[in-house]
Amino acid sequence: MDKRDYAPLLAELSEAYARHAPASRALNDRAQQHLVDGGSHALRLVEPFPPRITAARGAWLEDEDGHRLLDFWQGHMANILGHNPQVVTSELSRAFGEGFGLQTGFTDRLQVETAEILCQQTGADRMRFTTSGTLATMYAILLARAYTGRTLVMKVGGGWHGAQPWALKGISYYPGAIAGFQRVESDGVPTSVTDKVIVSGFNDADLLRAHFRQFGDQLACFIVEPFIGVGGFQAATVEYLRAARELSEQHGVLLVFDEVIAGFRFRAGNVAAIYGVQPDLATYGKIIGGGMPVAAVAGRKEVMDLAGRTAEPRVKFSGGTYSAHPASLLAAKTLMTYLVEHEDEVYPRLAELGERLRQTVVDAFGKEGILVRCTGQPAGVLPGSSMFMMHFPYREDTAFERPEDWFNPSLYDMTLSHRIIDLALLLEDVITLHSHGAVSMAHTEKDIEVLGEACRRAAHRIKSHL
Ligand SMILES: Cc1ncc(COP(=O)(O)O)c(C=O)c1O
Repeated sequence: MDKRDYAPLLAELSEAYARHAPASRALNDRAQQHLVDGGSHALRLVEPFPPRITAARGAWLEDEDGHRLLDFWQGHMANILGHNPQVVTSELSRAFGEGFGLQTGFTDRLQVETAEILCQQTGADRMRFTTSGTLATMYAILLARAYTGRTLVMKVGGGWHGAQPWALKGISYYPGAIAGFQRVESDGVPTSVTDKVIVSGFNDADLLRAHFRQFGDQLACFIVEPFIGVGGFQAATVEYLRAARELSEQHGVLLVFDEVIAGFRFRAGNVAAIYGVQPDLATYGKIIGGGMPVAAVAGRKEVMDLAGRTAEPRVKFSGGTYSAHPASLLAAKTLMTYLVEHEDEVYPRLAELGERLRQTVVDAFGKEGILVRCTGQPAGVLPGSSMFMMHFPYREDTAFERPEDWFNPSLYDMTLSHRIIDLALLLEDVITLHSHGAVSMAHTEKDIEVLGEACRRAAHRIKSHL
């Protein structure tokens, strides 16, 4: 349980922020009338209200109050080149000027070329586009269930695969629940689905073996992020992913890598290639869309082909109105091509900035006597990482290995990382959400200094309340 009374600090920060951003506040009051909680994505709705954004370029945003905000959230970490990168916007402007881009409902050369890049860079035989990571993971699970004829689906505690029926269990840690990660987190989902979801442990090969022993012959798939996102920004170990591959093969289970975050984040392609572990299916989203809503399921031909019109069994992964939207695919193709062509420049630079950022954050809180642990580091085989997530342990010697550790509210201060830090940094015109984010190619060393200074001032403001 949280040990600290943050009510006075939250009130102080909220009042200061209301004074700091009156125009955003007014718009937020207006938003409450028609938009549930004032917006359409819960994570963005920082309390007491989020800044309302008017412009975005590179690492920086502007809001309704005329502030310049330094952004590390970067479109839910989709914007690897920063906001509105010219390489993409110039292509879109050219296309729109030529009357190409909004004629959705047909198919074209662009779709072929974009699919070629994605398959080439990820080692997949076949793929299909969709519009969100959530749909991609849902289709991947349907494909796995149809292919194997089995019903159970296994994920890990802290694994986030979007809000679709099989993925709404075991995302957040609840003290007292079995293994802390067993709760179904949405009403409205049939228990006939959630009862079929087994929750295993991230980077816990022993637990995985035990689960495969117990459920292996009933499992359709094991879906896991090779670099876990919401669950704490941690890289899987090679041993863990290899064990997952071996166990899946032994038991006839499909291995699904959810690379919605990891895809094109560590190299110009899938992160699985760095691990040398090839899944049966993989899902992509975020970065691959170049700022537009593009996602994909990609993988082995025999499995993907169950989406085909003559397949038997057949998964109705038929597509939606906006699937493979031409303007979206133009952004996707342009961005992925850029990353492939500039791979040697982009990823080492992101790795260097990421390393510097994580150290800067630790130093800044450390100077004010606040314990912080920063995940996102490139553990194991990863050559570098642009990601960071701040966790605040109550004690110096607190375990720091798995989501079970840093989402355990008796070990880590959840109010600090999930509410207070974001608000305190907003007062410094810096954006993180739930204490995490990533550097993009638009960030500079100077921007990281600005973050460090903002963290130090935020820490100074907070420390007397701890
Ligand atoms: C690993 C992972 N999978 C799936 C999703 C869902 O993707 P989307 O938000 O595009 O629906 C997310 C979103 O953050 C994610 O991080």
